[in-house]
Amino acid sequence: MRETISYIESRASLRPCVAVVLGSGLSGFLSSVENPQEIPYADIPGWPASTVPGHAGKLVFGTLGRTPGAILAGRSHLYEGHDAKSVTLGVRVLAALGVKTLILTNAAGAIREDLTPGELVVLSDHVNLQGTNPLIGPNDDSLGPRFPDMTDVYSPRLRALARDAAARLGFRVREGVYAAMLGPSYETPAEIRFLRAIGCDLVGMSTVPEAIAARHAGLEILAISCVTNWAAGVKPGAIHHAEVLERGNEAASRLARLLPLVVQSLAAPEPSHG
Ligand code: HPA
Repeated sequence: MRETISYIESRASLRPCVAVVLGSGLSGFLSSVENPQEIPYADIPGWPASTVPGHAGKLVFGTLGRTPGAILAGRSHLYEGHDAKSVTLGVRVLAALGVKTLILTNAAGAIREDLTPGELVVLSDHVNLQGTNPLIGPNDDSLGPRFPDMTDVYSPRLRALARDAAARLGFRVREGVYAAMLGPSYETPAEIRFLRAIGCDLVGMSTVPEAIAARHAGLEILAISCVTNWAAGVKPGAIHHAEVLERGNEAASRLARLLPLVVQSLAAPEPSHG
């Protein structure tokens, strides 16, 4: 990780205090970044290689309003074959660079029937069903505790800021519990009935490893799902990819408007005395 950090420090002068992880198709927010300094993931030593040709992703530093920030545009997933440590490297590096607030975004299927494709849902909690955890193995006590508390992993303060920001934009964001599945196959209708029975409202294949690593590092976390479809079996018929994409775009444009307001409403960074 040291080599990764020193490479990034050699390419970008700005020290971010907030970071945003953008899921694929959710990169509209990048246009709000001022004075961007971009580093393709492929250039960064130790960064997990993307398995999706043409969608390698990049790390973008810049100012968001008045706040120095970092954007991870694109993430790696467990289903690509990366382990939980690799998919959380970016979050760990950002924490080491001084990030205190992490905003995670994703695309998700709605298990709850009253959620609708195209809407944004703020995560209130999650259930980790991915069968792994980025903290397995010896604990690095300099990074965080062996047994981190996961109560309120998604900050009530940040959830309230997101709700208020959405209200100012004229739409509502509701909250839900996110089930993290390994993928890459979508769930069966029986699996979705199981997830509903255990209290989950949304389902996806990302976010939770990053949230665990960020919690371990003591970051304050907000996570927002873009609902792209009803999960398998919630409505009659198969999941149609074209509809998923269209609804994904609708949610993505809401997300691109919401994120700048949320970042603005975060406490202003302390002036540096260096
Ligand atoms: N299941 C899992 N992941 C997803 C879905 C889904 O229905 N939609 C978007 N990501």
